Amino acid sequence: MIFTVAIDGPAASGKGTIGRAIAERFGFSHLDTGLLYRAVGAKGGDPVDAARGLGAADLAREDLRTAEAGQAASRVAVIPEVRAALFDFQRRRARAVGGAVLDGRDIGTVICPEAEVKLFVTASPEVRARRRWLELGGEAAPLSYDAMLAEVRDRDARDMGRADAPLKPAEDAITLDTSEMDIDSAVARAISIVEVALAKGGAG
Ligand code: DC
Repeated sequence: MIFTVAIDGPAASGKGTIGRAIAERFGFSHLDTGLLYRAVGAKGGDPVDAARGLGAADLAREDLRTAEAGQAASRVAVIPEVRAALFDFQRRRARAVGGAVLDGRDIGTVICPEAEVKLFVTASPEVRARRRWLELGGEAAPLSYDAMLAEVRDRDARDMGRADAPLKPAEDAITLDTSEMDIDSAVARAISIVEVALAKGGAG
């Protein structure tokens, strides 16, 4: 069976958690595509060469989840040649037999416009900044809530404003706004959307 769940949305919207939960529930593979851009940004040197030569060791680095790696990823992600170099790998993973969940910014719009399910997971910048700040320890975090909010806004502006594959919902995406929803409710809603689409039958 070929069945793709495309999950797009801004940083800290909950899309990763929802993606992992769907993959586990239905036995699909899961690819966090942000990790590819983070690995390119962290590698240093020429980003286009880094994207073309990306290997398993680059993706296994332990420093890819930091806020700095997120900002570096967002900066290399505006380069069309970087995006082109990562396209085939994501495309193959999206249409691999057995079902796949991909989360990112352009999965439903560019990587897999024919995805059987497209979700756009979002939340207000204030809610997303607070979540990240609490994850990093709240008052004990290395940066203030205000600094985190500025980072979130900065990354949103770059990801939504770039010319190539900007972050935006696909026309046929279902939007899940998690601002006032706890993560369990958001996961339950996403799972029921996938169940309905599966009942209609995936391709092949
Ligand atoms: O999802 P994330 O925060 O790990 O993504 C890091 C950055 O990578 C994000 O700010 C923009 C870029 N990105 C992208 O341009 N396209 C994707 N499909 C995934 C991530």
